[in-house]
Amino acid sequence: MAAKGEKNVAVCNMKLERLLSMKGGKGQDSYANNSQAQAMHARSMLHLLEETLDNVDISSSGNPRLFTVVDLGCSSGSNTVHVIDFIVKHISKRFELAGIEPPEFSAFFSDLPSNDFNTLFQLLPPLVSNSCMEECLAADGNRSYFAAGVPGSFYRRLFPARSIDVFHSAFSLHWLSQVPESVTEKRSAAYNRGRVFIHGAGEKTAKAYKKQFQADLGGFLRARGQELKRGGSMFLVCLGRTSLDPTDQGGAGLLFGTHFQDAWDDLVLEGLVTAEKRDGFNIPVYAPSLQDFREVVEADGSFVMEKLVVFKGGSPLVVSEPDDAVEVGRAFSSSCRSVAGVLVEAHIGEELSHELFTRVERRATRHANEVLENLQFFHIVASLSFASTSRN
Ligand SMILES: C[S@@+](CC[C@H](N)C(=O)[O-])C[C@H]1O[C@@H](n2cnc3c(N)ncnc32)[C@H](O)[C@@H]1O
Repeated sequence: MAAKGEKNVAVCNMKLERLLSMKGGKGQDSYANNSQAQAMHARSMLHLLEETLDNVDISSSGNPRLFTVVDLGCSSGSNTVHVIDFIVKHISKRFELAGIEPPEFSAFFSDLPSNDFNTLFQLLPPLVSNSCMEECLAADGNRSYFAAGVPGSFYRRLFPARSIDVFHSAFSLHWLSQVPESVTEKRSAAYNRGRVFIHGAGEKTAKAYKKQFQADLGGFLRARGQELKRGGSMFLVCLGRTSLDPTDQGGAGLLFGTHFQDAWDDLVLEGLVTAEKRDGFNIPVYAPSLQDFREVVEADGSFVMEKLVVFKGGSPLVVSEPDDAVEVGRAFSSSCRSVAGVLVEAHIGEELSHELFTRVERRATRHANEVLENLQFFHIVASLSFASTSRN
C-alpha cells in the first residue's frame, strides 16, 4: 500500500497527461476567460505565422482535394478557433491567387483527454452550407472547414502517417509530459526541496527538468516527422526565456516562482500542509532558451528551422485599471489558477487549493506595481519544414 502522501506524488508524475488541463468552462478562473493575453501575443505574431503558411507547398502530393490543419494544445478558449480560421483563410487565398481550385479543409483540435472539448465545440461557428463550402471563403461568423477533436499527448503519434499539411501549436510545448521523477524523489540529488518550480532551484534539479524537456520535444518532433506531409510546415510557439540559466525562467519564473511559491510556504508555516507535501508538488513547465530549442531540433535532424526567434509577448495579465492593486492581484491569481489550478487541486484538494490561491492573490495585490512592471512573457517561435536530407 502506498504511504500517506505518496499517492498524490504518483498522480503528479505518472498520470499527468490524464490529469492536466487548463481550467474548463467559462467562469472567472477558466482558461477561456483568462487567455486574452495569449490572444494578443498570438495576434502580434501573425506575420510570422503567415511566413510559415507561405512555405507550405500547396501543389504537393497526397490528396489535393483535402487540406488538413491541426492545432496541438488547443485548450478550451476561443484562441484556437481564431487561429484555425486565420490559417484556413490564408491558405484558401493562396489557392485562389495560384489559380488552383481550392480543396476542402479539415481541422483537428487536439489536446489532452481532460481538456474541456465541450466548451471548445460550443465556441465553433456554424459550418457554411454545403453548396458554398467548395466555392467560397467562409463569410465572417461561419466556418469553412470540417472540425474534429483529437484527444492525446502531442509527445506521441496522434495522426496517420503523411496526413497533415500544417501543424500549429501555441503556448503549449513548455508543458512537460511529467515532472521529472528525480525532482520529487527525496533521496535524489535533484530533489527540489523547498520549491515547487525549477525557478531558483539547484543545478541538479535544473538538469533534470532540461533532460525531460529534451526527451519530450524529441518525442514531439519524431511523431510530427511521421505525420507531416512532405511539403507541409509547422508553426510552434512556446514560453521561452532569454537567460542561458535554466533556473531563471523569466515570466514563467515570476508566475510560478514568486507569489505562488510564497503562498505554498505560507500553507506550510500555517500548518495547513506539510513541507513534504509541498515538495511533492512541482510545476511541469520548462521555458527553454533559443539554444535549448535549437539543440533538440538539430539532434532530431528531420527539420529545417526556417525561423527560430525569441519573441517578446508582453504581460500575461489583462487589467482595465492598472492602478487598482486589487484587480492586479486578482488577475495574477486567476492567471496562475487557470493554468495550474487543476494540478494543485489534484495534489491538495479543492479546499486547500482555494486557501493557496487566496494567498497568491493577497501577495500579488501587495506587490501589484512590481507584478505589472516585471511580469513579461517571452516566447520561442519556430517555423519548421522538412530538411531535404530527412529520411522521413
Ligand atoms: C496555455 S494552453 C494553450 C491554449 C491555446 N493554444 C491558446 O493559444 O490559447 C496549453 C495547452 O497545452 C495542453 N497540453 C499540455 N501538455 C500537452 C500534451 N502533452 N499533449 C497535448 N496537449 C498538451 C494543455 O492541456 C493546454 O490546454
